[in-house]
Amino acid sequence: MPKPRPESADKPERVLAGDPQEGDLQADTSLRPRRLADYINQEKVKDNISISIAAARQRGEPLDHILLYGPPGLGKTTLAYIIAAEMQVSVRVTSGPAVERIGDLAAILTGLHEGDVLFIDEIHRLSRVVEEFLYPALEDGVIDWVTGKGPGARSIRLAIKPFTLVGATTRYAMMSPPLRDRFGAVYRLDFHDAAALTTIVRRSAAILGVPVDDAGAAAIANRARGTPRVANRLLRRVRDYAQVKGDGAITEAIAIEALARLEIDHLGLDSVDYRVLRAIIEKFDGGPVGLDTIAASISEEADTIMDVYEPYLMQMGFIQRTPRGRQATRRAYEHLGIEPNRGAPPAQSALFE
Ligand SMILES: Nc1ncnc2c1ncn2[C@@H]1O[C@H](COP(=O)(O)OP(=O)(O)O)[C@@H](O)[C@H]1O
Ligand SMILES: [Mg+2]
Repeated sequence: MPKPRPESADKPERVLAGDPQEGDLQADTSLRPRRLADYINQEKVKDNISISIAAARQRGEPLDHILLYGPPGLGKTTLAYIIAAEMQVSVRVTSGPAVERIGDLAAILTGLHEGDVLFIDEIHRLSRVVEEFLYPALEDGVIDWVTGKGPGARSIRLAIKPFTLVGATTRYAMMSPPLRDRFGAVYRLDFHDAAALTTIVRRSAAILGVPVDDAGAAAIANRARGTPRVANRLLRRVRDYAQVKGDGAITEAIAIEALARLEIDHLGLDSVDYRVLRAIIEKFDGGPVGLDTIAASISEEADTIMDVYEPYLMQMGFIQRTPRGRQATRRAYEHLGIEPNRGAPPAQSALFE
């Protein structure tokens, strides 16, 4: 088990974060599957999308608006591009925070060609005004453009070409219900299991031209916290190690050695995960404790913990969300080697039944 970094250390390297880090951009692009057939796992989502695509193409109509949600690095952006490729249309990419004014959105919408995909990443961060401007475009294929100011203001209705909105979000709960309702299909992307991640590692290794054996690929996959982007990032780090310390080939031993140096444990937890769990257990008696309080106590941003760390800790059964905050589970105590009832008030022992 790795020793967690001291809290005073500089900003820790986020080798396990699902959101893009420095150096990911190029790899994300070169390793990104282009077609649905190359998109590994997420079978239910793929099935549904391929049926919708086939049906829309038969009718010669644009695809219904699609919302993709799930933690970072699970393949939302990749899927948006694939949908456009399978529909044989162009894709226009933007994001919630990038669309500041309705003028920005109007320019994008009027520039779309029939059937195009408009991909809005982080769609939960659209401002209310921009969001409301989008509604008639989604429903009736029109935008209401106001010219002039004050009493002389006039609203004109402009028709735009039918298009498909693909929205992506890590925060489904933060989206306004009217916006959610305007999507014809909503898909949740799930963490991948180790077998699927092993396949992804092998595929990426083949693209990068790195020899990797089954056990080596599995060792990387097991520590990639269910997330393809993390698997690809770990693969690149292990590749460097294999090149410098070995003969370039990735074996299980090389992978384990390389990943141990990155302070990643066998379940894929890093120092930030450890600090979160330790804070809940040692500073707050196991919880329940609010996320903001945890974040403040370890000097991390609440958003980062919520988007990047918490989903995997929950998936692994280390923490639970309760109405009163986050709670460490018995499994978390065991993983950290801490006695559950040490110092806990009697009422809390019920948690460990
Ligand atoms: N189903 C998949 N099969 C293979 N690789 C994938 C898959 N999903 C994601 N990836 C890889 O993970 C990287 C990150 O995916 P991305 O779509 O950018 O995630 P998100 O937008 O959800 O944060 C991509 O560059 C791609 O290489
Ligand atoms: Mg993305």
